[in-house]
Amino acid sequence: VKALPPASEVEAFCTALARETGLRFGADKQPLLAELLRARVLHTDSQTAVAYIDRLATAPSELAELARTLTVNETYFLRNQEQFHALAALLRQREQTSIRHLRLLSAGCSSGEEAYSIGITIRETLQNLDEWTISILAIDLNPDVIERARSGAYGRWSLRETPDVIRMKYFEERSGGQRYAIAHSIRNMVRFEPQNLARPPIGFWRHAAFDVVFCRNVLMYFTPEVARRILAQIAHSLGTKGHLFLGHAENLRGLSDDFHLRHSHDAFYYERKATIGPLTPPSEPNPAREAEAPAHTVLHPSPDPSPDPSWFEAIARASNRIEQLSRHSAHSTDEVQPAPRLSSEPSTVSGAGRESGALHLLKQERFHEALRVLTHESPHTTSEPDGLLLEAVLLLASGDMVEAVKACERLLVRDELNAGAHYVTAMCCEQSGDPVGAVDHSRAAAYLDFTFAMPHLQLGKLARRVGDLATARRELKLALDLLAEEDAARILLFGGGFGRDALLQLCRGELTACGAAA
Ligand SMILES: C[S@@+](CC[C@H](N)C(=O)[O-])C[C@H]1O[C@@H](n2cnc3c(N)ncnc32)[C@H](O)[C@@H]1O
Repeated sequence: VKALPPASEVEAFCTALARETGLRFGADKQPLLAELLRARVLHTDSQTAVAYIDRLATAPSELAELARTLTVNETYFLRNQEQFHALAALLRQREQTSIRHLRLLSAGCSSGEEAYSIGITIRETLQNLDEWTISILAIDLNPDVIERARSGAYGRWSLRETPDVIRMKYFEERSGGQRYAIAHSIRNMVRFEPQNLARPPIGFWRHAAFDVVFCRNVLMYFTPEVARRILAQIAHSLGTKGHLFLGHAENLRGLSDDFHLRHSHDAFYYERKATIGPLTPPSEPNPAREAEAPAHTVLHPSPDPSPDPSWFEAIARASNRIEQLSRHSAHSTDEVQPAPRLSSEPSTVSGAGRESGALHLLKQERFHEALRVLTHESPHTTSEPDGLLLEAVLLLASGDMVEAVKACERLLVRDELNAGAHYVTAMCCEQSGDPVGAVDHSRAAAYLDFTFAMPHLQLGKLARRVGDLATARRELKLALDLLAEEDAARILLFGGGFGRDALLQLCRGELTACGAAA
């Protein structure tokens, strides 16, 4: 038995896996990868680990073999049911037109539950199915799951979220209720293929090839580089106004600007924009580029549901920017007089300096002065996303909801997935007596930035007000956990004048009021 390969070879293995499959692995997976590398080198009679790794770029069957061990295949029927309700609504809209064809893709389909759930939704929704041409293609890297999907037989666990009425209609009980076979009417709707999303065959992502793509809980395992490339390909392969569904704990922030965010039936999903960015050139193995984010230095996401790692990075970048502004603000406290310079002389100070002055005044709750510093003296600052967000916060704080919403709208035109803009809009809605708008925008903010405590606090308070205590408790507990770790700069911006301790106290008070131990 050969010794385990050295760390440098395991690292090279990781890099090759990231390039060839998109998958990335954290330090905790290094022992597993070392063992797998040793086993595959022996099994394939490769001379050395380096020779084996070199072969991966031209050996799709070997990648499929590795996928048997390395992929996470957790799935079940009607997972995140709200998304299937949203899909049904889209189908009904299409039914109102003269179009009678429908092409769907389940990318990273695992053992087929998702693709069959799409089939069930179509059968449950469309009236005259024989007038329609429908294709559902389902692909996965792991050949074992594709085999299982084709067999169409499932254990009870796969149906754990399936309503009885659907189970009785579309499944046949086997082995005394231990196994369930999917009905032929659904099975015949889906075509399963082993395919590697990171290295699809030429022509796979044809222009406007699909109307709806499900790519749920897949990209979260990928390097941001590969996820971006695949999303660009998905955008190009969707027809105009085509739709994309991601996992409920994933979003496109920092990964793609090609989609509008949509929300219906308590589900978030995406609609392809009319104009989208250029497609990056076909991906040739490019170790130098992949090396920018070495696979072994990032944390492997924990099992579902878990955040898209690239999302972490995007949020971290955004928080850093705001933090920098705060630091400027702290400096300005040390270095300059607290009273702002409000002369109309042309400013020689940078935009960031102006924002820091405004932040400093925000801290002191001198909102009108802060607004004047921000907008009069350095109007170009408020054309930048961070400046616009600060302007919206200040307008909200000074009670000008109409202008605050307008500032948010301007920001959302620039950056549709800006969680802060949705949160400020939610606060404006609430204060203008529009609780539905407040809930919608708070949900969007929480979805776009899952570390953002304030929208959960807001959702908890709103739910308690309408007597939905279960939701109130869930949201407030989340807010309580997130607040402990919340970024100080974000508390300053969005805390409505409350510090962390006051917000924690508020949260505990709300929890007690809805009958939970805080
Ligand atoms: C957690 S499952 C998601 C299943 C289903 N989409 C859902 O949300 O329930 C992720 C799937 O992505 C597949 N996958 C991972 N890398 C892939 C790749 N490069 N190409 C195609 N599928 C891949 C895995 O094999 C796994 O079955």
